[in-house]
Amino acid sequence: MSARTTTDVAAAAAVLKSGGLVALPTETVYGLAAHALDPLAVAKIFEAKNRPHFDPLIVHVAEASQLDGLVAKIPNAARLLAEKFWPGPLTLVLPKRDVVPDLVTAGLPSVAVRIPDHPVAQALLRESGLPLAAPSANLFGRVSPTTAEHVAEQLADRIDLILDGGPCRVGVESTILHVPVHGRPTLLRPGGTPLEALEAVVGPIEILQKTADNIPQLAPGMLSSHYAPRTPVLLVESFDGLPEPAEWGILSPGPVPDVGRFGAVEILSERGDLAAAAANLFAALRRLDRTGVRRIAATLCPEAGLGRAINDRLRRAAR
Ligand code: TXA
Ligand code: MG
Repeated sequence: MSARTTTDVAAAAAVLKSGGLVALPTETVYGLAAHALDPLAVAKIFEAKNRPHFDPLIVHVAEASQLDGLVAKIPNAARLLAEKFWPGPLTLVLPKRDVVPDLVTAGLPSVAVRIPDHPVAQALLRESGLPLAAPSANLFGRVSPTTAEHVAEQLADRIDLILDGGPCRVGVESTILHVPVHGRPTLLRPGGTPLEALEAVVGPIEILQKTADNIPQLAPGMLSSHYAPRTPVLLVESFDGLPEPAEWGILSPGPVPDVGRFGAVEILSERGDLAAAAANLFAALRRLDRTGVRRIAATLCPEAGLGRAINDRLRRAAR
């Protein structure tokens, strides 16, 4: 089997309705979608990605009214956030209803949901009429795809169809927020919606301090090694003083002087713009990986706004 790449939304909806797997574009990254309420279809996602079953999936819906069918209780804070940020790169973790298969939530009592802000994802959700479970469409632990070609490179022979919606606008995954019925929300993963914007709506948000105890319970997918290219990545304060610079590929959020000395260079944004840097991040990591450099050196962004999401992905790429 080698998946066809197409722009035919009706064909993709038909595959999903018959229990198949479709890669779909979203504003963040490409997702690997299946009918969220069909455990056999969902099981195929884990198989195609080599994803461990303890890592739960995000359920995508077309509109907020579909939440009632999936979620047992919608706290006020969640309603406010949904109104303000959906469709968009924000995932809310809420108490689940029994109809949501345990496979989707890895046995947790909560389900992660979001409405993607991409016309093709919206069209597919509406045409199929289904809630769609979709993790990022990459092999487990590897760099997330931001184009249909990226998906094909890793998954073409493991899935049914790739729906092409062009390059993803945001380029990093959604922000994941656990919203309990009582108490403060907790940030589980920084992403395309800045923490500051969320706090402006619901007040102070806890930031998950990862420990061996709370990761399995609260955020089982937040393994530290992730987003990893094959070439080892090292985080540095500065690119000056790297030994044998020609052997290094460098990844910088903004401009770098004297780039000719390095083996390969990826400047994420010449203007040092964080939104542009996020949109380029994963494609840049993939390109560096292909140049044959021995190592990749990267510098972090200021830890604010989208910089948090970019830094999180770089730290995890750096294992
Ligand atoms: O932007 C995105 O979020 C993309 C697009 C396709 O929507 N999806 C994505 O999915 O990044 P994935 O599977 O690569 O990351 C989802 C993460 C999981 O690793 C897991 O940690 C967390 O979401 N998650 C899912 N359900 C959860 C739950 N019930 N409780 C806590 N964390 C959950
Ligand atoms: Mg992922």
